[in-house]
Amino acid sequence: MSDSKRKILVTSALPYANGSIHLGHMLEHIQTDIWARFQKLRGHECYYICADDAHGTPIMLKAQQMGVTPEQMIAQVSEEHQADFAGFNIGYDNYHSTHSPENHEIATAIYLKLRENGFIKQRTISQLYDPEKQMFLPDRFVKGTCPKCKAEDQYGDNCDSCGATYSPTELINPRSAVSGATPVLKESEHFFFDLPAFEQMLKTWTRSGSLQTEIANKLNEWFEQGLQQWDISRDAPYFGFEIPDAPGKYFYVWLDAPIGYMGSFKNLCAKRPELDFNEFWDKDSTAEVYHFIGKDIVYFHSLFWPAMLYGSGHRQPNSVFTHGYVTVNGAKMSKSKGTFIKARTYLEHLDPEYLRYYYAAKLSNGIDDLDLNLEDFISRVNSDLVGKLVNLASRTAGFITKRFDGKLAKVEDTRLTDGFVAKAEQIAALFENREYSKAIREIMAMADSANAYVADAAPWQLVKNEATLAQAHEACSNAINMFRILVTYLKPVLPRLAQDVEAFLGLTLTWNDLALDMAGRSINPFKPMMQRVELDKVNAMVEASKENLQAAAKAPSALDDDPISPEITFDDFAKVDLRIALIKHAELVPEANKLLKLQLDIGGETRQVFAGIKSAYNPEDLIGKHTVMVANLAPRKMRFGMSEGMVLAAGPGGKDLWILEPHTGAQPGMRVK
Ligand code: MSP
Ligand code: ZN
Repeated sequence: MSDSKRKILVTSALPYANGSIHLGHMLEHIQTDIWARFQKLRGHECYYICADDAHGTPIMLKAQQMGVTPEQMIAQVSEEHQADFAGFNIGYDNYHSTHSPENHEIATAIYLKLRENGFIKQRTISQLYDPEKQMFLPDRFVKGTCPKCKAEDQYGDNCDSCGATYSPTELINPRSAVSGATPVLKESEHFFFDLPAFEQMLKTWTRSGSLQTEIANKLNEWFEQGLQQWDISRDAPYFGFEIPDAPGKYFYVWLDAPIGYMGSFKNLCAKRPELDFNEFWDKDSTAEVYHFIGKDIVYFHSLFWPAMLYGSGHRQPNSVFTHGYVTVNGAKMSKSKGTFIKARTYLEHLDPEYLRYYYAAKLSNGIDDLDLNLEDFISRVNSDLVGKLVNLASRTAGFITKRFDGKLAKVEDTRLTDGFVAKAEQIAALFENREYSKAIREIMAMADSANAYVADAAPWQLVKNEATLAQAHEACSNAINMFRILVTYLKPVLPRLAQDVEAFLGLTLTWNDLALDMAGRSINPFKPMMQRVELDKVNAMVEASKENLQAAAKAPSALDDDPISPEITFDDFAKVDLRIALIKHAELVPEANKLLKLQLDIGGETRQVFAGIKSAYNPEDLIGKHTVMVANLAPRKMRFGMSEGMVLAAGPGGKDLWILEPHTGAQPGMRVK
């Protein structure tokens, strides 16, 4: 080994505890797992840590919606996440939760240290508050019209339409996404982390050369824009850790989330007494720490996180390794196309090693997006793994077993295998630098020469003749040895295959033994190790990803995203005549539990409509409002009279139900497009 034994801690970003693991997450965990397994294979001491990110408003609200406590929900989700990752053979040394005693303790200690060192400021701010739900609203829970381009229905932090970023108070006509109420401004005392105080240190860290160029450039842009104080507190109700000496105030989820890396490691240290937490996190630690993350969370990991560590007397990460986003068939993962594929759905149809291989074969150390093209996936896996790699053994092992008593011969001509072994440092450097696709290309080029060698030697001919039997024995032995070397190189990528090969060869594949002399060793009978990917399995997975959705629409579960209706054509949509309606009159229907009787003006014509919104509105409050109605719905005779259309409303139901209200320039009778 060229470098001495290193101590390395690696992490993948902590998945939120309110959603299922999908093939986008899997890119990150596969990328990290390959790297961690590679380090271990090289004989280094490497720990791979992860956890669920369990705090924050979305998790609190989701649990409420499900009628369970956040603790119950995150426990269930943690089980699902861990089962999914285990299904893909992700070999964490520890998988924990940010809602843990360790994390509570470390987050509190870091905060107190930062406060003691003068990096925590206090200031009163005004924030949007939902008067109905009685809570402050995170940016993502306020919707309204973009102040820049006037696009409607945009989130409170940025506009999907023009890309502008702004504060939710700048939104025109803001609405609470929780209750629909119009938010009001309310003051509250907040705690801030003094990020600007770390500018010099962060610049030095950025320029130390350990960050990817694209990321260093991004950071320089942020420095130019100027660093801001970071708001690290949230008011109750909030699911998180309470801030010391500040009752009713909680750490913002992103404060204790990265600390969760330390919390999970601390939890591991308790299980392995030989491990010393401080050795990895002290200011003068010589251990290495790396975070694998996606490009959306660079700010948190390359500014806030190193600054928090530095300001509290800890070491900083050696680097953050950022990857791009997964697209499927060239487009963003889509629920309606069935390309928003959950880890679980994949595992129900396909071998996890295929995806590990495919991602590795396409991953570079850059931040470009990675396209999972399903056709390419099938052909790549079939031609490389089945056609080139496993085939090497499957077409030679039988002769060893049947004709040569399961024993390998001494090989005289070692030119090819010597060449393979000589590649070790180059391949190691590629893995080390996360140039997996280049490593795979090198390995597959060797597989090509190995197959050419076998085709040339044609042992199936040689065995037919007593005179060339020894040659056949040597050729097959040589091929098996080539297979061994190649699978050793691929062991970080294909741990399950490597395990099968270890059983087949009766040895452990290690980097140090690449040059092992196999002469005289016995091998076990060859068993099939890798099936071809079948198109119908891939199609079934895509179909099931669509079905998931329809099932979700019927029965929302812990992890399903918003239910979505089946796709309709544009023509279906065009048939719906949506009109602005003025509510001229509204009254209770005394005999009906849910109904209000409305008189709607749609421009010279008045319609009577019975609407199931009694639980949410007093009739007098509706009079004079504009709303949207379906004007070409077939009239329906009800017990109380004719209903001549339908008004549109949204919300979970009960008192949380809101008719759609156009706000600017709406005139009765206008078509809604
Ligand atoms: N909880 C935070 C991370 C806290 S780390 C201290 C979070 N969670 S997440 O579940 O939204 O995302 C987890 C990781 O998955 C992030 O690194 C994110 O970039 C990555 N990905 C989520 N969707 C992805 C793709 N479609 N493709 C690739 N990675 C993606 O952010
Ligand atoms: Zn906009």
